[in-house]
Amino acid sequence: MLTMKILLTGVTGQVGSALLRPLQRLGRVIYPTRTQLDLSDASAVARYLERNSPDLIVNPAAWTQVDCAETDPDAAYGLNALLPEQLARYCADRDIWLIHYSTDYVYSGAGTEPFTEASVPAPLNVYGETKLAGDEAIQALCQKHLILRTSWVYSHSGHNFLKTMLRVGKERDELRVVNDQVGTPTSAEFLADVTAQMVDYMQVNQEIPAGVYHAVPSGYTTWADFAEAIFAMARESGLGEYIVTVKGIPTSEYPTPAVRPLNSRLCNDKLLNVMPNSDFSWGQCLTNSFAALVKP
Ligand SMILES: NC(=O)c1ccc[n+]([C@@H]2O[C@H](COP(=O)([O-])OP(=O)(O)OC[C@H]3O[C@@H](n4cnc5c(N)ncnc54)[C@H](OP(=O)(O)O)[C@@H]3O)[C@@H](O)[C@H]2O)c1
Repeated sequence: MLTMKILLTGVTGQVGSALLRPLQRLGRVIYPTRTQLDLSDASAVARYLERNSPDLIVNPAAWTQVDCAETDPDAAYGLNALLPEQLARYCADRDIWLIHYSTDYVYSGAGTEPFTEASVPAPLNVYGETKLAGDEAIQALCQKHLILRTSWVYSHSGHNFLKTMLRVGKERDELRVVNDQVGTPTSAEFLADVTAQMVDYMQVNQEIPAGVYHAVPSGYTTWADFAEAIFAMARESGLGEYIVTVKGIPTSEYPTPAVRPLNSRLCNDKLLNVMPNSDFSWGQCLTNSFAALVKP
């Protein structure tokens, strides 16, 4: 299986770019960018699959502009629901694995208990609805699937909260940050490591039960406390003084087109049962990300 051909989508995204190197250690990776393959064009995708015959598909590509999805639901549905459905049909026909990524936004955000993989989804916004439709299509069509539901993804590339904080934290004395949404910041590198371990398991024929997994580090925080942690880490890492006060505000004072869940807690027990090596706190993951950022 060392010559496994892996199709990686979304290589220019946060998770896709973090996945490239770890997957290249496990097989031959093909990773078309948008200019090489428009993933919203089903015929082009079908032709690409026929021509390249992958042995495994890893699909972090998605429509991730949560607010824009409210006004352009068809585009979001194309990438988040129709593409996974097409990939699931292809994988089922060839009896190959599909690894896909999903989100805390499939859940209702109600209550204060962590959601488990058995919780009934009830998305609050169009993005969540389209991602859930993708998950359900995969579950219905392709037995060999791993759906990794994650939350609050950050990396040192792409658009994300960590990068925004590092930029605006230098420009302002005070930042108003939401403090009533609770969830788990997840580094793209954490997701890449979890995914690579899963592929490794497949290759050495260890049991990897198909299904949905909550792929997040352990522990929960708020956006405001995450911002404080980022500034503390940035100061420690010598990235700047970051003399900025974080003022916690309720979500009601930061209105957005798409409603956000207040409770994004995802229980990761199922993941850790299969992969005890992935037991990192979100703070450890943040420390690792900064260590990689300032590495000489
Ligand atoms: N970001 C989060 O906070 C978050 C939270 C929970 C779950 N997730 C899930 O995690 C996964 C990875 O997210 P991410 O943050 O890595 O996303 P991202 O940084 O926005 O990357 C999305 C990728 O999809 C590609 N793409 C989108 N439309 C395309 C098209 N028509 N043709 C070809 N490529 C296209 C993008 O290409 P271009 O660079 O050319 O645009 C990019 O490479 C997604 O399934 C997402 O739903 C993310």
